[in-house]
Amino acid sequence: MSKSAEKRLAKAPILAELQKRANQGTRGFHMPGHQGGQGLWPPYRDMLQQWGPRMDLTELPGLDNLAAAAGCIAESQKQMAALAGAVKTYYLVNGSTVGLQAALLAANHRSGRVLMPAHAHMSLFNGLILTGGRLTVLPAEVDPAWGIPLGVPSHLFEEKALPEGEVLVTVNPTYHGVMADLSAQKHWLEAHPGTAWLVDEAHGPHLPYLDHPAGGSALSYKADLVVQSTHKMVGTLTQTALLHCGREIWQQPLQQALNILQTSSPSYLFLGALDAFQAQMQEDGRERLRTVRQLALSLADEIRAMGGYRLWQDEMPAGWQADPCKITVNADALGMTGFELSRLLRENYQIDAELAARSHVLFMITMGHEAADIRKLTAAMKDIADKAPLEPPAVKRSAPCLRLPGCWMEAEFSPRQIYYGRKRAVPLKAAAGSIAAAAVVPYPPGIPLWVPGMVIETEHLRILEDWLSEGEACVGLDHRQDGYYIMVCDGPPAAG
Ligand SMILES: Cc1ncc(COP(=O)(O)O)c(C=O)c1O
Repeated sequence: MSKSAEKRLAKAPILAELQKRANQGTRGFHMPGHQGGQGLWPPYRDMLQQWGPRMDLTELPGLDNLAAAAGCIAESQKQMAALAGAVKTYYLVNGSTVGLQAALLAANHRSGRVLMPAHAHMSLFNGLILTGGRLTVLPAEVDPAWGIPLGVPSHLFEEKALPEGEVLVTVNPTYHGVMADLSAQKHWLEAHPGTAWLVDEAHGPHLPYLDHPAGGSALSYKADLVVQSTHKMVGTLTQTALLHCGREIWQQPLQQALNILQTSSPSYLFLGALDAFQAQMQEDGRERLRTVRQLALSLADEIRAMGGYRLWQDEMPAGWQADPCKITVNADALGMTGFELSRLLRENYQIDAELAARSHVLFMITMGHEAADIRKLTAAMKDIADKAPLEPPAVKRSAPCLRLPGCWMEAEFSPRQIYYGRKRAVPLKAAAGSIAAAAVVPYPPGIPLWVPGMVIETEHLRILEDWLSEGEACVGLDHRQDGYYIMVCDGPPAAG
């Protein structure tokens, strides 16, 4: 870029930041999975480089229409569905968020019940504001040593009392890569045929193409609706995702819901990226994913051999299984929090991790990674371990583990009722016994402590106060001069 163009970027703060990053030559172990273009299907990457803005088009002759696909988009979606093992696949241009919300809109109704795991993504809880209906929150276990969410315990699906609903939501795998026990849930669903199965596979777009035990998409368990963020683990552009439909009955309501929620001007750069992904999977995509998995396994072995680090996958509680492409590392023995390890990697080695928390750093190994990237990360981690003091200072205990409710719970009011209800802010200390009007979500792990419609328990407030006293981040609070405030629902919520 010329000096004068660079100077002009001072007027464009976002572009200026993007340009700074591009110049740093940093390697990433985070989303998007294409890692600076390395994981894009090569013909698509070439087209982007050669034509870029000329591919940003609208519904011109021959380019079809996402809202009523009958031409090239329909053909591409058909090929994608055949590869993934779905009855029909819809391309999404607003991430898994829009796919999950459209699926809820299609499968739930105003008085329906949705069984939602406590560690579900906020887009799902927000989806219930759109649809209405009752919320039953299923408990999610959290690893007590690492403070990382695991999932809904399988025994819950053996309980006779677990009520039937319109929709059962499953997260497979979680952000940290924990796989759900799909067979236990499938078994329960067979006994409750009126319940539709919606699976949030935002972090599992690679799963249909890997064999067990590394694979295991809910599509092979005949789930009704499966949503995958291809921008996370495989090689498409940010915001692109897939909504797979496992049964024909959902096709008409899904198309209608998508047409309500998605833009009427979808980006052809995005649609092209999804088309490229299905073409890549027709060619060498499976092989590439197997290689990526091998790279992740070898990275884990190298880190183990260095000493000083611990890997979460080695210490997960029995009965849980993790996607090997997510590597979660603790550096307490080197006297470092996850924040410090991540800062060192960024500042001294030009490596960015996906997530830093007090107790760990998370690396994502994705379609865009090559052996050279793994070597770079391994060398940096080894250097950091070698340079650590022989007797490092003890790392301050990480923030208290979130203990989520052990039993399923009915929300007092639906998220939609709360959304339209009368709300008011109260000091945190005075909130016990009130009905939450907003979710409070400590990060990480990003699991709501409570969601709109739930009664705020004294125990939750105690956990939250401990969490905040450790300086950890939390979304959903209002920090004022005299302390934290939260929104509660005051008075009878509106009907609906
Ligand atoms: C488990 C889970 N589900 C859904 C989403 C939403 O995905 P997207 O960012 O593609 O909208 C996320 C986002 O990180 C997620 O972690």
